[in-house]
Amino acid sequence: PNPPFATRTLPYGEAAIVAAAALIAAGQPVAVPTETVYGLAADATDSAAVARIYAAKGRPSFNPLIVHVLDLAAAQEIADFDADALALAEAFWPGPLTLVLPLRADAGIASLVTAGLDTIAIRVPAHRAMRALLEATGKPLAAPSANASGGISPTRAAHVVASLDGQIALVIDDGATEAGLESTIVHGRDVLRPGPITAAQLTLHFHPGEGRGPVASVLGQSTARDDDRPATGPRPAPGWKEGENLLITAPGQLASHYAPTKPLRLNATQAEADEYLIGFGAIAGDINLSPAANPVEAAANLFDALHRADASDRATIAIAPIPEDGIGTAINDRLRRAAHRD
Ligand code: TXA
Ligand code: MG
Repeated sequence: PNPPFATRTLPYGEAAIVAAAALIAAGQPVAVPTETVYGLAADATDSAAVARIYAAKGRPSFNPLIVHVLDLAAAQEIADFDADALALAEAFWPGPLTLVLPLRADAGIASLVTAGLDTIAIRVPAHRAMRALLEATGKPLAAPSANASGGISPTRAAHVVASLDGQIALVIDDGATEAGLESTIVHGRDVLRPGPITAAQLTLHFHPGEGRGPVASVLGQSTARDDDRPATGPRPAPGWKEGENLLITAPGQLASHYAPTKPLRLNATQAEADEYLIGFGAIAGDINLSPAANPVEAAANLFDALHRADASDRATIAIAPIPEDGIGTAINDRLRRAAHRD
């Protein structure tokens, strides 16, 4: 079958997993929650199935996908782990950490998954629904966020339906996702995408090998301490042009990747005329990410707030300042991308 589909939503449970596994086996992508955001999963060894992910999302084909597997042993059949990667996997898997590692030649992963790169982004998810689907299918599952390309990542089943209705056959609904932000992506000792696992947490777990210098992420931040601030601001790699992807080793990190459809104003302390204000802490707003000013709570609520702001009757969106501490780095990364207009 091809789109348009009558997109079904089934609550998480045995019936949903059986239906989803049958669709995956038939080469169809299925939306499934993870602990970060809802993913659009398909068999990573089946190039036609992977192509249907790109098609459903309308995603540019140069943008590689994350592969999800049940455990470290399954990941080691697909990618080569060095001492740092092993230490991180042991510390944070299952969980919201993605490792970019050399792809094994015999892994059987469709080249569309990696967009032809010789590395692969891989993670072991913690969420019961994604884990049940991995078990039921017995396949590595490629899964980008389950939204149309360039849209806001979905943290609820209704967000998926709003974005991909008619493009996919099934959404498994298991409520709001816990982290609400995509996984942290690490390549070597570089953070390609900040996320729920902070640079400070990562640094604690790098393999304590000899002759290793201090750790600095590509974001230009020392990762040595949680309260570090960027010394010089973002450091573009050689060849970077204004308005282009800053983190060019992560091809998908396009500057406008997380854009809502309406203009977004950052660091707002009050709403201007016809603005929907997303508040934080004491700045109440039309909706508040965390009245208690808790950044983890704010991260979990971020994309839902952006969805609500986008769907409101106001012409533009404003958001209160979020402190740069801990997961605040990841929130502000997403917000800068969301505010960027091409
Ligand atoms: O939390 C998550 O990671 C979610 C859930 C569903 O697991 N998935 C997700 O996937 O955010 P996606 O496809 O939206 O983001 C994948 C990111 C992109 O920025 C892409 O460029 C980067 O991973 N990526 C994938 N493979 C890569 C590689 N070999 N080298 C560098 N970056 C890579
Ligand atoms: Mg995405």
